[in-house]
Amino acid sequence: MTRSDDLIRRRDRVVCGGVGRLSDLTVANADGATLVDADGREYIDFAGGIGVMNVGHCDPDVVAAIRAQAGTLLHASVHVGTYEPYIALCERLVELMPHAPDTAAGPGTKAMLVNSGAEAVENAIKIARQATGRSAVICFTGGFHGRTLLAGTLTSKVNYKLGCGPYAPEVYRLPYPVVRAGSGPSEAEVVARELDRLRSAFRDTVAPGDVAAIIIELVQGEGGFFVAPRAYVQGLRELCDEHGIMLIIDEVQTGFARTGRWGAFEHYGVTPDISTWAKSMGGGLPISAVMGRATVMDRVTPGTLGGTYGGNPVACAAALATIDKMESLGLNERAEQCGALIRKRFEVIASETREVVDVRGLGAMMAIEFGEGGDPARPATALVKQIITTCREDGLVVIASGTESNTIRVLAPIVISDTLLEKGLSIFAATVSRHTRDSAHAVSGS
Ligand SMILES: Cc1ncc(COP(=O)(O)O)c(C=O)c1O
Repeated sequence: MTRSDDLIRRRDRVVCGGVGRLSDLTVANADGATLVDADGREYIDFAGGIGVMNVGHCDPDVVAAIRAQAGTLLHASVHVGTYEPYIALCERLVELMPHAPDTAAGPGTKAMLVNSGAEAVENAIKIARQATGRSAVICFTGGFHGRTLLAGTLTSKVNYKLGCGPYAPEVYRLPYPVVRAGSGPSEAEVVARELDRLRSAFRDTVAPGDVAAIIIELVQGEGGFFVAPRAYVQGLRELCDEHGIMLIIDEVQTGFARTGRWGAFEHYGVTPDISTWAKSMGGGLPISAVMGRATVMDRVTPGTLGGTYGGNPVACAAALATIDKMESLGLNERAEQCGALIRKRFEVIASETREVVDVRGLGAMMAIEFGEGGDPARPATALVKQIITTCREDGLVVIASGTESNTIRVLAPIVISDTLLEKGLSIFAATVSRHTRDSAHAVSGS
């Protein structure tokens, strides 16, 4: 039995099966954009621990900052005593991504720190509810906001929450403005249709005066990397302003250089009232943030937010070092380059493969969708599973996305070299070609 087999066997014995396992991959150590399994086998990493490792695995400056902080202060709890790394990180965040102009009274933006994306989302909703005095929240099909009970209610995909109800009340879901380049209605048609639908929802589903927040991912992470049209998001902003609704942009997966900006919202000419951040912000340590307009954040009652570990000093030090490193490496520009390279290769695959439905994404957040005969209504879930398995056998780790798991997404560390990225994309292209050839034979032979 290999070490990997043994590790999986031990996992199955003691780890609750509810903790999803995408494959039998094991991981012993990692560096940059490379993973090494328990048997010493190397893989090119296109998953980045689900979008966490934009700055690369074990970046030496991030590791040094973690080591230094670990020897100084491991934990205090910000409720008990104020410590420098928490404050320095909040200062850095509000300076990096202001949500409102500063005034004579102070910064126009405030932040708070917690531990995970789901926790950031929970707190964002609590802030919006307190700031507006309203309870309803509007979210979207295909949205993913975490697995805790309120965040899980906001999450769309049923498989992530089977049997976990009752879910939180006062959550309303509308269709996400899905646009595919090669098929379906045009972007302008989708924008008009979905903004109309929201206006109708204010008449037939929930009164706008009862709505605390609309929460949206500008590029759906788990939902299949659909990119919200710019005009739609601008329309949302206008409707939120008209009705005093908080626009919450969930940047947990899109944030920190993934789309070529610190936040995807910077592509849209729109600023959220409240935003949520996690994943790549911590360079690999668990930390998340909620940011918001100071006038909104100041309406929250002391004691209603927080938690024992939120903004742990070591995680704050990691986040500060990660942001510095992203800045010094020009990771936003690098994300644009990686994204262009991935898009080019995906488009070649699309031109050669009947089963490709769409290639889409923003910056280095790129995906390719598969459907039987190229039909979006017939998701090629089994094919995608085969592609992922064969890629792994050939040394490339990729993961699926989409409600039907028929999309393959790239969340590779953005520090990946062109050579490694090309190598990974070549493995991917060869695998797609092999499996779609196989499936063509199967179809013609049946
Ligand atoms: C957009 C978005 N929001 C929230 C979450 C939940 O984050 P976490 O898994 O850290 O709770 C995720 C996780 O994938 C996400 O992609």
